[in-house]
Amino acid sequence: MKAIRTVLAATTALCAATAANATDLEVTHWWTSGGEAAAVAEFAKAFDATGNKWVDGAIAGSGGTARPIMISRITGGDPMGATQFNHGRQAEELVEAGLMRDLTDIAKAENWAEVVRPSSLLDSCTLDGRIYCVPVNIHSQQWLWLNNSVFEKAGIPVPSNWDEFAAAAPKLEEAGIVPLAMGQQPWQTTLAFQVLMVALAGPDAYTKVFGDKDTGLAGGPEITKVFQAAATARDMAKNSNVQNWNDATNMVITGKAAGQIMGDWAQGEFQVANQVAGKDYTCLPGLGVNEVIMTGGDAFYFPKVDDAAITEAQGVLAKVMLSPETQVAFNLKKGSLPVRGDVDLNAANDCMKKGLDILAKGSIIQTPDQLMSADSVSLVNDLFVEFFNTPDMSAEDAQARFVSIIEEAD
Ligand code: GAL
Repeated sequence: MKAIRTVLAATTALCAATAANATDLEVTHWWTSGGEAAAVAEFAKAFDATGNKWVDGAIAGSGGTARPIMISRITGGDPMGATQFNHGRQAEELVEAGLMRDLTDIAKAENWAEVVRPSSLLDSCTLDGRIYCVPVNIHSQQWLWLNNSVFEKAGIPVPSNWDEFAAAAPKLEEAGIVPLAMGQQPWQTTLAFQVLMVALAGPDAYTKVFGDKDTGLAGGPEITKVFQAAATARDMAKNSNVQNWNDATNMVITGKAAGQIMGDWAQGEFQVANQVAGKDYTCLPGLGVNEVIMTGGDAFYFPKVDDAAITEAQGVLAKVMLSPETQVAFNLKKGSLPVRGDVDLNAANDCMKKGLDILAKGSIIQTPDQLMSADSVSLVNDLFVEFFNTPDMSAEDAQARFVSIIEEAD
């Protein structure tokens, strides 16, 4: 009887909460792969449990497709309740234009400055001392994902670094396996290039070139190595004919390809396919050369709206996203690391543990978006894409153009 009464009381309380503040909140994001959808469902579940309703605004394609749509809705007077952007400066102009909600009071009340690590994540949300976003994860791009059984079948040991992987390419090709899976969307090319840059030139050189705009280094031998390795990667990926990053991951999972350079969100796909880290697949942070992680990832922004109920629901969602329970549930599915250091991560798999170790050592670098203006980043990205798609463009020519972009960059 007591149990029934408790259940009834709980149900009544939930209904009351639902009736009092049930607000539909549209949340836009570009998380549409199997692993991403599983992760975003954790946010929806946690938000719905507050009595509000998560209205899913997934935009298929990629961040590059989604961001212009999100921005034009906000500037065009049709804002969503909340929206994803990457850590960094992607939303800077919207914040400067006064279109984004100031979350400073919530951040203070919830003690974000204490719990969010590394502090650069909250810095990226801050403009003129005010906080405009909630960082929800740490994603790192610097990973090589390898299918172990493909190497076993080809009679090659599973590589432990980029050079061994590149050296294995001819044998893999002989065995009918695409050495490097790569989706054709431009951001994937750019990502691979940046990963090669950090791994092969080293994190200091990368930060000096992108952050300090050091043209001497940009034209020097460290970066020459990077452009040469990118030419090798271009050749290794010549028979990879998919568009989406998760289709490329799927080539690796199914053994059509041997490896993929991709962010740790690829892990969500391996998990959905019941693959076990360390057994079925190998992950090499920093391509096994320079073990660093880039503290990129995702943050949610809340456009200003003239509606008290939505404003209140926005505040609830901001808190929910950073709660310890949601941080664990979401990040385990997403393949990313939580932004709080005070959560229980016993369930972390091998690859996530590697990431956490690197983070604990402080071997972290910032994303190009954090180091450079959006315009300069897009010029660099365009060059990388052109190089990757133009087999007869030499590494030397590409490096010369890279130097002139860095000269003008801000
Ligand atoms: C990134 C985002 C990740 C992941 C990836 C592929 O921009 O930070 O969370 O979703 O895109 O969709």
